[in-house]
Amino acid sequence: MTLSPQDAAKKAAAEAACKHVRDGTIVGLGTGSTADFAVRHLGERVKEGLRIRGVPTSLKTERLAREVGIPLVDLNEVEAIDVTIDGADEVDPKLDLIKGLGGALLREKIVASLTARQVIVVDPSKIVPKLGTRSPLPVEVLPFGWAVVERRLRKEGHHPTLRQKEGKPVLTDNGNLVLDVRFPEGIADAARLERDLNNVPGVVENGLFLGMTWRVVVGEADGRVREIVRG
Ligand code: 5RP
Repeated sequence: MTLSPQDAAKKAAAEAACKHVRDGTIVGLGTGSTADFAVRHLGERVKEGLRIRGVPTSLKTERLAREVGIPLVDLNEVEAIDVTIDGADEVDPKLDLIKGLGGALLREKIVASLTARQVIVVDPSKIVPKLGTRSPLPVEVLPFGWAVVERRLRKEGHHPTLRQKEGKPVLTDNGNLVLDVRFPEGIADAARLERDLNNVPGVVENGLFLGMTWRVVVGEADGRVREIVRG
């Protein structure tokens, strides 16, 4: 199968990141088209004898992991996760992230919070000088009173839009809704925004992943990769 240049870059990043996965470890399995390449590659390594147990970050990733033969473990049964390989929608110079365009931000953030080494895999389009410049910030909200949250965010000067597909609200794996919040000028103070958003009753979690990244693997269409390590 011929891959598009962007998919070739994603695959290169994902497969290179798998070298950080050691035998006998617990591995967080991210969500999205880039993370899928890593899950497939880990499936091949499991067939060759790698012993890992995976913690999927979404129902879709769980299905894929089962399909490619990665043994899974319930998050409730693990104290810590050794390494997680996940994608991102934006990566800034501090390796802070926006995640959640794929709708899995809540489970991804719970898994990231337990992870010793969070490896982010991206193609070069995800690298931004400032968070919010390329992608909206996904905010997961309870269906109960979601419009109250939307109105409150608008009053606070934000620009939220309910995520919909084919005219219907998109539900996350947790049965919640997503407000995609645009920042036309980029996000000025991500730490403050994260705190403020999570203080709004009805907000379950937001897609800012601050200070959680161990390293970012950026793939190129020609198969080259570079790693950016948090300074
Ligand atoms: C899902 C995510 C994804 O990791 C993010 O959207 C990147 O996806 P892709 O690799 O398909 O561009 O955060 O919630």
